[in-house]
Amino acid sequence: MMTKEFEERLFSRLPAIVEHFGTPFHIYDEEGIIENGKELKNLFSGVEGFQEFFAVKANPNFEILKIMKKLGFGFDCSSIPELILARKAGALPEEIMFSSNNTSTAEFIEATKNGSCLLNLDDISMINKVPAFPELICFRYNPGERRTGNEIIGNPADSKYGVRHDQIVEAYKMAMKRQAKRFGLHTMICSNQPDYTYMTKTVNMLLEVVEMVSEALGIKFEFINVGGGIGIPYKLDDKPFNMSAFAEEAKILLDQFNQKHGYAPKFFMESGRYMVGPHGVLVTKVINRMSKYKEYVGVDASCISSMMRPAIYYPEGGYHHISVFGKDNGPTERVNVVGSACENNDQFGRDRELPKIVEGDVVIVHDTGAHCYVMASNYNGRLRLQEVMLRSNGNVELIRRAETPEDYFRTMFDFEPKTL
Ligand SMILES: Cc1ncc(COP(=O)(O)O)c(C=O)c1O
Repeated sequence: MMTKEFEERLFSRLPAIVEHFGTPFHIYDEEGIIENGKELKNLFSGVEGFQEFFAVKANPNFEILKIMKKLGFGFDCSSIPELILARKAGALPEEIMFSSNNTSTAEFIEATKNGSCLLNLDDISMINKVPAFPELICFRYNPGERRTGNEIIGNPADSKYGVRHDQIVEAYKMAMKRQAKRFGLHTMICSNQPDYTYMTKTVNMLLEVVEMVSEALGIKFEFINVGGGIGIPYKLDDKPFNMSAFAEEAKILLDQFNQKHGYAPKFFMESGRYMVGPHGVLVTKVINRMSKYKEYVGVDASCISSMMRPAIYYPEGGYHHISVFGKDNGPTERVNVVGSACENNDQFGRDRELPKIVEGDVVIVHDTGAHCYVMASNYNGRLRLQEVMLRSNGNVELIRRAETPEDYFRTMFDFEPKTL
């Protein structure tokens, strides 16, 4: 949910922002992102070697990356464009975690150039496919039936990610044959997880695997990385993830490991949603009121081109809270809030009890800071919208312009003809 502070900062200015930029747009709250990042660092200040690698896939806007860099965070990248962006934001080799899957040779080449990065391999078959094998290597571990996941990412045993439990020792052995000398261990087995104890179990699981591999091969681990997947409250009554308790329990587990083995690996995470999700909203204007078998509010954004989550995770997930600017009280009605795409899942919210809405009202869709703009598509010729940043100093800045029909046509018409 949008925080009270973000709401105050935004709502006092919203009519002027809407007037100036026009709708629709995603707007991000720099102050909220910075405060949240500082709090995270503070909570983990007792954990030696704590490092967050911001998951670029959650929100790859360059201005967001610049904020993360200033906070001292690294980047989790999963593709060539994300690597390029992270390096452009000033990330040093060991500030980039390359957590890709089904990786191509071109991606390995890009990842290991410019001084390389923390290369995280998703499969044992990848070991002999890395052209320039780095000294420091990490594997993504999949515990299979040892753990359960959730509806977005699926159960580990059914998911396409990671090295199987019975392969993990062999994976490090093979990496050593390729001259790897430094090691890390990674996993990511949940998404939007609200329960911190699930993540604590994940830390414990990784430390057990570290022990197992260390014992088998006589190696030490420089770091463990618990991945992303930390949840945020999308619904009014969702409980926030207890980061403070997670930090405390992770520290206890790492300290115990230290007492037993005389060292502890550094503690990494690669959160995206937790870092930016609640610090963005979609602002969109009502353009039509329609009465069918249900009441429909048509807005000037579509899920397709602005935030796919409500469309692709319906009906189990993808819920985003909706409010109507300037209409907190008064009579309500049950409506569906929809976009214009020819796709029935293009609905920001269904059967929502909202204040009575008229054409011209401004609708706020909450928690669009992560996995929203970036998942949009051009289906139906729908053009991606603009992104705006509400700066800490009060400035409001366009940080990505809206797409134009020319952008949409460019890859069809703007190239040298090639024929076989
Ligand atoms: C490998 C990896 N790391 C980190 C993340 C970030 O996850 P979240 O935004 O849920 O924290 C993802 C998300 O899909 C991922 O695939």
